[in-house]
This record gives sequence, C-alpha cells and structure tokens, in this order.
Amino acid sequence: MRGVARQKVVFACQSCGYEAPKWLGRCPGCGSWGTLVEEVTEAPAAPGGGHVAGLSTGDRPRPIVAVETAEAVRIPTGSEELDRVLGGGIVPGSLVLVGGDPGIGKSTLLLQLAHRVAEDRGPVLYVSGEESARQVRLRADRLGALSRRLYVLAETNLDRIEEHARELSPLVLVVDSIQTVYRPALPSAPGSVSQVREGAAELLRLAKTRGVAIFLVGHVTKEGAIAGPRVLEHMVDTVLYFEGERHASFRVLRAVKNRFGSTNEIGLFEMREEGLVPVPNASELFLSERPLGVAGSVVVPCLEGTRPLLVEVQALLSPTPFANPRRTASGLDLNRVLLLLAVLEKRVGLQLGGHDAYVKVAGGVRIEEPAVDLALAVALASSFRDVPADPRAVVFGEVGLAGEVRAVGRVEQRLREAEKMGFRRAVLPARSLKNLAFRSTMELIGVETVAEGLEASLGG
Ligand SMILES: Nc1ncnc2c1ncn2[C@@H]1O[C@H](COP(=O)(O)OP(=O)(O)O)[C@@H](O)[C@H]1O
Ligand SMILES: [Mg+2]
Repeated sequence: MRGVARQKVVFACQSCGYEAPKWLGRCPGCGSWGTLVEEVTEAPAAPGGGHVAGLSTGDRPRPIVAVETAEAVRIPTGSEELDRVLGGGIVPGSLVLVGGDPGIGKSTLLLQLAHRVAEDRGPVLYVSGEESARQVRLRADRLGALSRRLYVLAETNLDRIEEHARELSPLVLVVDSIQTVYRPALPSAPGSVSQVREGAAELLRLAKTRGVAIFLVGHVTKEGAIAGPRVLEHMVDTVLYFEGERHASFRVLRAVKNRFGSTNEIGLFEMREEGLVPVPNASELFLSERPLGVAGSVVVPCLEGTRPLLVEVQALLSPTPFANPRRTASGLDLNRVLLLLAVLEKRVGLQLGGHDAYVKVAGGVRIEEPAVDLALAVALASSFRDVPADPRAVVFGEVGLAGEVRAVGRVEQRLREAEKMGFRRAVLPARSLKNLAFRSTMELIGVETVAEGLEASLGG
C-alpha cells in the first residue's frame, strides 16, 4: 500500500510528457505549442511508489560473465511478417506497443495474433476497453479466430485486469487500448498523460515479474505521436507502428524501436474481409498497376530492412503561369524532391522553374533511403521531356549536390529482386558496379553523374 498521497496539479505535454508546474504556451520539453494540459496527479509517496519507468527486480551485482545468455524461447505468432518485425517472434515478458491511426487494423492484427498463439501454444487474454465482448466475438467470427484458449475480457479497470491476468496466467496479454484503461488510485481521467504512463508502468511490472508478453494498443494523435505521450515509447521494449492509407487495403507494420531485434524490418499485409493477410511477394503487388510506356514512371529497387522491394516512383510536371510553382510529394520527403529539382536545373540544365511538380510512390509506401534519388531524377526528367523510361529497367543510386551519383549498399540484393521480377536492365552507381562480385543476367549500366543516368534511362 502507498502512504498518504498528496494530490498535485501539473501541466503535462500531450506530445512528450513533459510536466510543468504552471501553464506554458510552448512546451520546454519538445518545443511544440499549445500541447500542455492540466492534470491532477499524485505526488509519489515513497521512492518507487510513483513513476516506475524501469525494472526493479531485487537483483544483486554480479560479474558480467556470470549472467546467463540463453534467450527465452520466442513464441511464433503464426505470421512470418509479424515474426520478422518482432525480431523473430514474441519474447516472453516483453512489453510491446502497437500504434497507428484509428481504423488502420490494430485490433484485427492483435486478435489474429491472439488466436494463433492460443491455438498453438497456450492461453491468451484479450482485454478490450473499447468494444464489448460481443463485438470482439463478432470480429473473431469474421476472422476465424475462435480458439478455445482465447479469453476475452471487456474491462478498463487496471487493478481488475491484473487480477484476472494473475489468475489466468496467459502467455500473451493484449490491452486494447492503453488510452481506455485506468488505475483507480489515480485521480486523473483515462487517456490522460499520467494515467497512460502509470498504466503502462504497472503493465511493465506485470510483464517482467510474470513473464507474460503484453501488447498495448495505442492510438495516434494528429501530430503522429503514439498515445500522445511519447514517454510510453521509452518504457516499452518494442514499438510497432501500423501504417497505410485508409482507402488502400495495403498495410505496413514497422518496428520503430526494438530491444529484441532490428528496427529496419517491415511487415506487409493486405486488409481483407477475412482479416490481415500477409503479402509475401510485395514487389509484384507494387508493380501490378504500373502503366507501361508512360512518361514519369520509374521502378526503383529499394531496401526496407533486409527486404528488397521494387516500387514505382511517379512524377508529373506541368507548366504553370504562376511565379511560385507547386511542389508536392507523397511517400517521399519533399525536401529530397526539391533538392533533385535544383540538381536537374543546375547540373543538367533542365528549365523546371515554370513547372508544377507532383511526385508520388505508388501503393502508399514510404521510401526513406537515398537510393531512390536517381530514380526520382529520372522520373522528373522523363515527365519533363515527355519521354518514357525503359519499362524493363530499374534505376537506383544516391545523388549529391554536384550532380554526382554515389554508391549505395546491398546492390546484389536489389539486383536479384529486379531479376526475379523479370527486369532486363539496371542503371546504378558506377562505383557500386565496380565492387560488385555478383554476376547478373541483366544488362548493368554504371553511371557517374545524373546526366549519364538520364541518358542511360531515357536516351540522349
Ligand atoms: N465486416 C468487415 N469486412 C471487411 N472489413 C472490415 C469489416 N469491419 C471492419 N473492417 C475493416 O477493419 C478496419 C478496422 O480495423 P480495426 O482492427 O478495428 O482497427 P483499429 O483497431 O486500428 O481501430 C476497418 O477500417 C475496415 O477496413
Ligand atoms: Mg481497435
């Protein structure tokens, strides 16, 4: 039991969790404006009674060589995509946060996971604070997730959730969502910064002491921070982010943080009536609607974690009478597009100033790696000149400000994927080609400058 708790009013930032004693227009923690809201919290009565962000297991110092290294056996989720993102399955005793926009498919994903684990391994408890048990049952009917060892609980009181979890001893506990559950001992409302933080701390303790793997669902605010307070991200072992365009059926699951694996991995799913279906051959899906022989479309082999992906980059340039042409980018960093437009003007001599430029990555994925530069430059020039790029060629390479094409990593994997998908030519950095041991059946064209890259892809 906690001693006498004093109530305290603080102003907590919805974005980063910073707590200020008085209201401020701008958060000193993260610099965002208008994010501080008033909250009533308890002053911690004793050390360890209030904020618990880390572990306290009563451990003693011991020589590092005496620490056992054997990793707990991971629990497969039944989905290769999900396993890869988690770093090879569920780690017992881990706390995982699954974030994403409402309606993106978080409950669907976790209900499917809960069913698979229950079916193959042991009991799973799915706690829903948003939907009634009947609603969860109806969804489970649709998804075919009716394992006998899958238990449903519609509850928001964390004390009771914990009681049930101790009684049932599930392998996996799903809490959907962290914003709806609350600790009755705290005076503030569910969803507030202190409730979310204290709730997660309580669940962290449960995970570490009982060895149960816990998945927390977190809704994302408009600003894109998971569960508002980013404090959650520091506490949990793994943060997965579920994204995609709501209108498209395609979904990407990304690890933003992972104490048990790489953060580069992505999982690809398609949302169907029967639930989320893994997409093993993503390149095929991304290229399925590609227009052939149309200017402005270029295929780039990019890497998301260990996984090569062929995606189509599209550009459309159209003349505008206005002095300030529009530039928009979807699926790509706009700054990157602006930079390449400048490089094309200055180093290649294309007069793009009088044109609006629209750029997008087809299929709703996002490309962040610089290897997309050259493909983007070719797409822009292709649309500008109205000359289609070779539809059987892939293009990749980083572009520097001098218009030079720089080497990129893991060239062999990119080329293998392009080969597999039936491409015949690849335009790539000359430097990458020089160091390449791999023998491709494709025609490989190494280029040193953007101008050479355009010539190789579009002709002179
Ligand atoms: N009967 C249905 N048939 C097909 N898809 C459905 C059906 N009901 C819901 N969905 C899909 O499931 C999505 C909701 O997924 P859900 O897992 O509840 O999202 P979240 O938990 O992230 O809010 C909806 O956007 C919709 O696309
Ligand atoms: Mg939901």
